[in-house]
Amino acid sequence: MPSRFFLAPLAGYTSLAFRLVARELGGLGLATTDLVNARSLLEHRRRAFELIETCPEDRPLAVQIYGPAKEELCAAAQMLEARGVSIIDLNMGCPARKVVRGGGGSAMMREADKTVALVRALVESVKIPVTVKMRLGWDDANITAPFFAREFEQAGVAAITIHGRTREQGFGGSVNRAGIRAVVEAVERIPIIGNGDIRTVEDARTMFAETGCAAVGIGRGGLLDPWIFRQCEAELARGGKTAPPAYEDRVDFMARHFEKLMALRTEKVACVLFRKIAKWYGIALRAPRPMRHRLVMIKDATEFRALIAELRATRPRATAAGSHEPHIPVPSGPNERW
Ligand SMILES: Cc1cc2nc3c(=O)[nH]c(=O)nc-3n(C[C@H](O)[C@H](O)[C@H](O)COP(=O)(O)O)c2cc1C
Repeated sequence: MPSRFFLAPLAGYTSLAFRLVARELGGLGLATTDLVNARSLLEHRRRAFELIETCPEDRPLAVQIYGPAKEELCAAAQMLEARGVSIIDLNMGCPARKVVRGGGGSAMMREADKTVALVRALVESVKIPVTVKMRLGWDDANITAPFFAREFEQAGVAAITIHGRTREQGFGGSVNRAGIRAVVEAVERIPIIGNGDIRTVEDARTMFAETGCAAVGIGRGGLLDPWIFRQCEAELARGGKTAPPAYEDRVDFMARHFEKLMALRTEKVACVLFRKIAKWYGIALRAPRPMRHRLVMIKDATEFRALIAELRATRPRATAAGSHEPHIPVPSGPNERW
């Protein structure tokens, strides 16, 4: 891996366009696609194939699959291997109802024997490495990650990412680093990737120090500040310093993200996809409210480019540091209804 600072997948955000622009900044190790339904791949659904879209500059990359059925997961993994994918990541952490209801995502953490047999079969079905991403367990009374990690290592899993929360916790509360440490201690040699709430270089340093993990996965922190990978690499791996991005750098990044999206999709589709992402770019740039509004309503590239020119000419409003943190929507409320 080029670095120990990985991009954790954020479905709908960390698509190929974002990954390519983020990789240009440097410091990013492994990236992972959005979770893809194994059955949708086998049924050749267009949406599933858009999710696994990649190119030579988008390396190293793991394709993340999910689903409850062993045969489907193995067949999907073989199909991906035949297409040149180099790492398969199994999603065992997603708390969303539509994933858990069918027995996929974090629901797999409730079924010890079935899940271990499934992972064993998945590893044996392909020659490429299989990794797993999971949470600490279903709830506080069922912290099963150390057990699974041990079993998965025996089964031949190459690495495991642990989001230091339970399924019941959703995205609330804080990350349990002692819980991640217990997983690190449960395995003999495979790398454990610590994940959850890393927003700064200091957070990454703490994750390494308190858990003994081999690498860190950065999700929302990487989306809000894609320079974090380069900063972590400079400060934690090389002991140096990097300057934080300037306002102009952030505007440039957003412009490049949009242009890349447009090159990969049509102009119309890029505009629709970008609206959701533009919301937090607008806040991160502290753009005046009317500009933020226009940003999430863009209709075509001409309008977007004009807005970029205006943003370049506009100085950001002075706001107390940290008070503008954009919010990336996460499922909330009673988690039975996610
Ligand atoms: C909007 C959103 C989408 C996510 N999509 C995925 C996904 O497709 N696969 C996955 O394994 N985790 C997914 N996650 C979980 C993240 O990868 C990560 O484990 C979690 O957000 C905690 O890390 P962070 O605090 O660095 O974001 C998602 C999280 C969010 C907020």
